[in-house]
Amino acid sequence: MKIPPSEEQELGVCCADFYNHPVVVKLLDGIFHPGGLALSNLMAEKMDLNSSSRVLDIACGDGMTGTYIAKKFSCHVAGIDAGENMINIAKQRAQQMRVSDSTQFKIGFAGAIPFPDEHFTAAYSECAVCTFQAKDKAVLETARVLDARGILGINDVVIKNHDDIDDELKGIIGRVACIAGALSSDGYVQLFDQGGFSHRETSNHTDLLEQMVDKAHRRAQMGSGIEEALSETANTDDILRMIGLIKDEISSENLGYEMFIFQKSR
Ligand SMILES: C[S@@+](CC[C@H](N)C(=O)[O-])C[C@H]1O[C@@H](n2cnc3c(N)ncnc32)[C@H](O)[C@@H]1O
Repeated sequence: MKIPPSEEQELGVCCADFYNHPVVVKLLDGIFHPGGLALSNLMAEKMDLNSSSRVLDIACGDGMTGTYIAKKFSCHVAGIDAGENMINIAKQRAQQMRVSDSTQFKIGFAGAIPFPDEHFTAAYSECAVCTFQAKDKAVLETARVLDARGILGINDVVIKNHDDIDDELKGIIGRVACIAGALSSDGYVQLFDQGGFSHRETSNHTDLLEQMVDKAHRRAQMGSGIEEALSETANTDDILRMIGLIKDEISSENLGYEMFIFQKSR
């Protein structure tokens, strides 16, 4: 008997399909989180990663950060993601970067992490907790696979007031595009605190979100070869309107991007 996918699986796969879509890849220039590897590196340094770290990348996407961290810190990195295509690209990337021996990428969901208890010394998730359907389950799973005093880094979209966002951003596109499911800054701290983590620090990186959205806007305005990848259900005007709504949220300071460092405390 085939077991039907859970809501988490359905939303996770939908999110992976969104980021794999040629239009989204072109608009984001293949970089799925604000700040690219420079911000990932800052997070890794704040997490004190080193060659003895065993690291988990939760919702690793196409492995851009995981392969970079494995190489830069000479450590072991495992990445899980809902998208099969993402995992295939991550494996190819690991080969190209010659880190196949120190990385492992597999399909997996944040709410049921396919690794044993206390397997990792550190974990991180970039621009992804905002997309998780069952955030509290994901946090408990993260705590389970981290060893005592394990370090956790989260880079994510923050939203001050959900009621203020445009209805269009509250739908499925807003959900997979990291807006509708984002928490407030205090909301993330509370979520991880309840899941057994103590909060070490928060830093604000909204300027990098703004740069990413501005770049996507410019690329959409220029066409950037997206026309041939557009379907009957979306055109450049729809995309520009959606990006415009996101830009408005950022300028009104309702939407931002923050880095959180936590440590497992129980
Ligand atoms: C915005 S992308 C970020 C990817 C990657 N972390 C990065 O920064 O490049 C969000 C990712 O979350 C993954 N995702 C969403 N829900 C998930 C879940 N419940 N479990 C695992 N992966 C999930 C999607 O497949 C997608 O790759």
